[in-house]
Amino acid sequence: MTAASSVKRQSPRIAVYPGSFDPVTRGHEDLIRRSLAFVDRVIVAVAVNVAKQPLFTLEERVALLHETVRLPEVEVQSFEGLLDEFAQRVGASVIVRGLRAVSDFEYEFQMALMNRTLAPRLETVFLVPAFDLTYLSSSLVREVARFGGDVSQLVQPAVQQALRSKFGR
Ligand code: PNS
Repeated sequence: MTAASSVKRQSPRIAVYPGSFDPVTRGHEDLIRRSLAFVDRVIVAVAVNVAKQPLFTLEERVALLHETVRLPEVEVQSFEGLLDEFAQRVGASVIVRGLRAVSDFEYEFQMALMNRTLAPRLETVFLVPAFDLTYLSSSLVREVARFGGDVSQLVQPAVQQALRSKFGR
C-alpha cells in the first residue's frame, strides 16, 4: 500500500441513499444494510421535491425512517434540489440505488449518467435487493394498504400503523 492510499483510507467512506421513501419498506432497509458492506456510513437522503404528491409528509417520511432503521452507521437527512450537490455537501463519494427489475433500468441509468455529468467524482452503485423483496415498491405498499390488505411482510410495524392511520383502516 502506498502512503497516499493509506492516508485516503483513513477518511470514512460515505454513501448517500436517496429516494422518496413514501413510505420506507423492507426493501429499502435491505439495501441500507447491504450498503454497509462497502461504506462506513450511509446517509439516507429523503427528497423534498417528490414529483408526485406524496402520501406522507416529509416529516412523516423522515420519522418513519428513524423508527425503522436504528443503526449507528446510518443517518437520515432530507434534501431539496440537486442530489449531486447534497452528496458533495455531506462528503459522500457514492450514490446507492436499488435495481429491482429491467423496468427500473432506463430511469436509473439516465439518472446515474446525469449525476456523473454534474459530479464526475461521484460514483453510482446499483444494488440488487433480496430475492423476496425484488418486486416490492412503496407504491405497491400504498395501494395494498389503501384497500386494507396485509402489508406486514413488506414494512415494519411502525409503517404499517402509519398506513392504517392514513387510510383509516
Ligand atoms: O424514490 P425515488 O422517487 O425513485 O427517488 C428519486 C430521487 C429522489 C432519487 C430523484 O428524483 C432525485 O435525485 N431527485 C433530486 C433532483 C436531482 O438531483 N435530479 C437530477 C438527477 S437525474
